[in-house]
Amino acid sequence: MSQQLNPHPKSLPQNEGGTSKRDDSPSLLVEEGAGGRGVKDRVVLKVDNLRIHYATPQGDVIAVSDISFNLYEGETLGLVGESGCGKSTTAYGILQLVQPPGYIVHGSIEVDGTEVLNLSEEELRKFRWTGLSLIPQGAMNSLNPTMRVKDQIIDVIESHEGKKRDKEAMRERIFELFQNVGLPNRIYNMYPHELSGGMKQRVCIAMGVALHPTVVIADEATSALDVVVQRIVAQTLIKVKDEIGVSLIVIGHDMGLLAQIVDRIAVMYAGKMVEIAPVENVYANPLHPYTQLLIDSIPSIKERKPLKITEGITHDPRNPPSGCIFRLRCPFAWDHCAEVEPPPINVEEKHVVACHLFDEQFEERRAHAYATTANP
Ligand SMILES: Nc1ncnc2c1ncn2[C@@H]1O[C@H](COP(=O)(O)OP(=O)(O)OP(=O)(O)O)[C@@H](O)[C@H]1O
Ligand code: SF4
Ligand SMILES: [Mg+2]
Repeated sequence: MSQQLNPHPKSLPQNEGGTSKRDDSPSLLVEEGAGGRGVKDRVVLKVDNLRIHYATPQGDVIAVSDISFNLYEGETLGLVGESGCGKSTTAYGILQLVQPPGYIVHGSIEVDGTEVLNLSEEELRKFRWTGLSLIPQGAMNSLNPTMRVKDQIIDVIESHEGKKRDKEAMRERIFELFQNVGLPNRIYNMYPHELSGGMKQRVCIAMGVALHPTVVIADEATSALDVVVQRIVAQTLIKVKDEIGVSLIVIGHDMGLLAQIVDRIAVMYAGKMVEIAPVENVYANPLHPYTQLLIDSIPSIKERKPLKITEGITHDPRNPPSGCIFRLRCPFAWDHCAEVEPPPINVEEKHVVACHLFDEQFEERRAHAYATTANP
């Protein structure tokens, strides 16, 4: 393996008693509490052991592989990982919007105590936008070009609340939404093609929060925009989240941008969640070898550095390697990694990693692995 890892972790955090703590179930990644700005302890979304496949003639693609995580009230959670790692499929799964040939193999998705997988089609229809809402990848390009902005937002509201007679009250409500997302009232009667990309994306955010859902998932909400507008739209998301009081999952590639807006980061690799931690831990002390590669690949204006991630996911998603999902690219892999899937390990409160190196029985190996790459 030619890639060289950041020799950190700068320190390996320990639990009380000085040992790293393991969860009992090898298939689950759990974390304890969220922490962060305005984040409460109440869990609003609980994803448990979610698995999603796409059926293909050559066999099932394992898009999401037994992932578990909590989202807390008022929290912004970033979901990151390379293209094809299953971020969008996770979002669709949570909203029960996976389309054939995709299907949910098993799992549980609870929003405020409601099991989403048990809802009927009609209940689900009501629940979308009010309980859970998705701003899908490429949302701004899916706005209806033949409908005025106001009519598209009115459609969302009336499809859940029924036809409104009081047009003036509706207009005021939409103006309030415009204000929430920083749009001028003059766009009320405009068509999408008359708006800039940033404005269109704000219209999508306005639609996503129009019915004050408990959880909003924004899938690459800023990717198609230029860097300055990306930042403005990202800040808009956070402002709206705080004002309306929703909890947010932000899916994205831009680790630099996410660092500024999220409370925690969950890192996915090939359908697995490999690390989840408060944002400051992930950047200052990334533990999983894959997270280290991601952090080392963040471009810097001050320092030119070679791109560490060059390969992309290397295995066939229909036939993942045994043991650790990352082992074919991991410079630290040894026999055990091929034999046993790494369980989630709580190395510190709120910081969970799925890598054998953080199991206390392999402490020496960890020290050696990092020592050998410390001075490459
Ligand atoms: N309709 C489909 N049929 C077969 N495989 C699919 C289908 N849709 C997605 N996949 C596969 O599922 C996996 C996860 O895809 P997904 O779109 O969720 O990834 P992603 O992390 O959102 O990627 P990106 O960052 O490019 O948006 C990939 O291997 C992808 O090829
Ligand atoms: S479990 Fe093994 S192969 Fe997987 S990331 Fe850790 S050291 Fe690498
Ligand atoms: Mg995607």
